[in-house]
Amino acid sequence: MDLFEHYLDESCEEKIGGGLRGKTAHYHLTLNDGRTTEVVVKRLHTGYPATAEALILQELAGAGGVPLLHGVTTKPPALVMQLCPGLTLVEALMGLNKEEKELVYSAALSAIHQFHDAGFYHRDLHGKNIIVDTSTSPVQCHIIDVGEAAKLPNDPTLNQRMRNKDLTFLNRLKYVIDQS
Ligand SMILES: Nc1ncnc2c1ncn2[C@@H]1O[C@H](COP(=O)(O)OP(=O)(O)OP(=O)(O)O)[C@@H](O)[C@H]1O
Ligand SMILES: [Mg+2]
Repeated sequence: MDLFEHYLDESCEEKIGGGLRGKTAHYHLTLNDGRTTEVVVKRLHTGYPATAEALILQELAGAGGVPLLHGVTTKPPALVMQLCPGLTLVEALMGLNKEEKELVYSAALSAIHQFHDAGFYHRDLHGKNIIVDTSTSPVQCHIIDVGEAAKLPNDPTLNQRMRNKDLTFLNRLKYVIDQS
């Protein structure tokens, strides 16, 4: 797939994020059947293809609300994925009351459990790597930025340790909500 030839409407480009590893932009992708869909295109600062992240997205196939993979491009190297609607967890929590924050926390916890049950741990969970869609009932969370994720080990003790590591962020969040 050549990013700027036929598939993506460049005029719709809107930068949505510049993280440590990559920069992301919002595009419209024309599907084979002629319909268009909103996508996020992620390019790594290194200029290398985000192959590892693409393979993990493919294997997760939406578990934990992760974006579905549309494909990868070679010119320039980029990852094309479903746009997860909503705000980052950090943004979403602003202005919510305690009860609403608790609902967001539960949705995030459930997304992480789904992610783990699909056989991966994330290794980089923080307030900008979870997207919260408050337009759905119940609220739905999407885990994003899976480039650092790894397969959970088979050994039950190690497996639990890795899951717990991922949960550190959410345990802190729960503490902050409880204190508020
Ligand atoms: N599929 C998506 N749907 C909606 N927004 C997204 C999506 N992917 C990325 N974003 C937005 O772009 C930002 C940066 O993306 P991402 O976290 O993947 O990049 P990164 O450079 O790896 O980040 P980090 O700073 O965590 O290393 C996210 O915080 C989020 O706001
Ligand atoms: Mg990120």
